[in-house]
Amino acid sequence: MSVAFTVAVVVNIIAVVQEKSAIWVGFLALLPLCLLLITGPCLFVLPYVTKRRDAECAG
Ligand code: HEM
Repeated sequence: MSVAFTVAVVVNIIAVVQEKSAIWVGFLALLPLCLLLITGPCLFVLPYVTKRRDAECAG
């Protein structure tokens, strides 16, 4: 997802420099960014959830 986002940002920059920027080019980067916004916090919470689960199993 981060690769898709990076590619979309590069496409965005090229479009702006060539003055061919369109609204859909902007949304191109927004879609993977929104997905990263969901998966990012999941990655953050995951270690805490597994730690608690491990502690419950041991207890
Ligand atoms: C939009 C909000 C974002 C949030 C909340 C977020 C959060 C996180 C978190 C919590 C991790 C796990 C880090 C770890 O424990 O090792 C992670 C990993 C990662 N993120 Fe994000 N992230 C976001 C956006 C992005 C963006 C924009 C990119 C790149 C364009 C990106 C690229 C990555 C990559 C490559 C990893 C994997 C790192 C690894 O495997 O160690 N993330 N992110």
